[in-house]
Amino acid sequence: MKTVFSGIQPTGKVHLGNFLGAINNWVEMSNGKNKNYFCVVDLHSLTTHPDPKDMDENILSTVKVLIAAGINLDNSTIYVQSKVSEHAQLSWILSNFCQIGDLQRMTQFKEKSSELGSHAGILTYPILMASDILIHKAHEVPVGDDQTQHLELTRNIAERFNNKYGVIFPIPDKTSGKVGARLMSLRHPENKMSKSADDINGTIYFDDSKDDIMKKFKSSVTDSEDEIRYDLDKKAGISNLIDIYSSIQDISHKEVEKKFSSSKYGEFKMEVGEVVANYIHPIFSNYDSLSDKEILSLMKTNLEIAKSSAKKTMEEVNSLLGI
Ligand code: AMP
Ligand code: TRP
Repeated sequence: MKTVFSGIQPTGKVHLGNFLGAINNWVEMSNGKNKNYFCVVDLHSLTTHPDPKDMDENILSTVKVLIAAGINLDNSTIYVQSKVSEHAQLSWILSNFCQIGDLQRMTQFKEKSSELGSHAGILTYPILMASDILIHKAHEVPVGDDQTQHLELTRNIAERFNNKYGVIFPIPDKTSGKVGARLMSLRHPENKMSKSADDINGTIYFDDSKDDIMKKFKSSVTDSEDEIRYDLDKKAGISNLIDIYSSIQDISHKEVEKKFSSSKYGEFKMEVGEVVANYIHPIFSNYDSLSDKEILSLMKTNLEIAKSSAKKTMEEVNSLLGI
């Protein structure tokens, strides 16, 4: 049986990129024979200096979305990172197995340090991510494409620790979604779709109404041609729409191009909007029907499971280190 680990930051509302890049895959893996940990990584979100007033609500809402999306709770543990102190503890230990140059080379570090100012949290962010994954000895990590480099670094850190102090960590693999591993903003297709996007019209949120969704697709940025063709360099906007359509409908880019070969951009945008609205709507209605009280109680039980697994690994690590 494989152990799966993945994380999501509670920095705002869950969006379509989260679903198509990661959560869809989590749902699929949770319905297999794996043991799964899905973690709301609040410690990571501190790198953006979030408002403490919003924290509890964002965490609860994120957990509810995961459950509403269909994660199988029979073999999944959903919990909050900061409540399991071993994550931060292991992170310190692993920082001694990671080169500063490797951290500075991370694309996300370069992007975020120009955006947020380069504090050490942004630099060491991937070490905390490695500790999340390794604390439960995960084999598989389903994440979007933007996390590929971080996962490579995790593998290096695990190998260095194993070589020096004894083989304890599996070397984890990245599990990618079928397509749509990196969704872009509908308004600025050169940037990825994100929770904290400056232009909210570029992001589809899990609680957007059909009206909102159709409006956002209507105003999505494309190009001056009228040809529905996948070309990331020359047609980033249209390619993003093709990615979204093909991911939700589970068909190839070529099939999308064929299906819409005689359509105008306006028609295609509305078709993609329809498909997205039909995808989002059931998740939102499930979300709406969940009881906060029951979810909070479930999180309590899940936390105990996560704590016990993390404690066990930490004891092994400390013993190998002689501390
Ligand atoms: P975050 O919202 O940054 O905590 O991301 C949670 C998960 O969603 C990670 O696995 C990311 O790789 C994935 N993700 C975030 N944004 C996107 C996007 N625009 N396209 C695809 N996957 C994404
Ligand atoms: N860095 C990830 C993101 O921004 C979130 C994350 C933190 C994560 N720890 C993780 C993802 C461990 C997978 C595994 O999306």
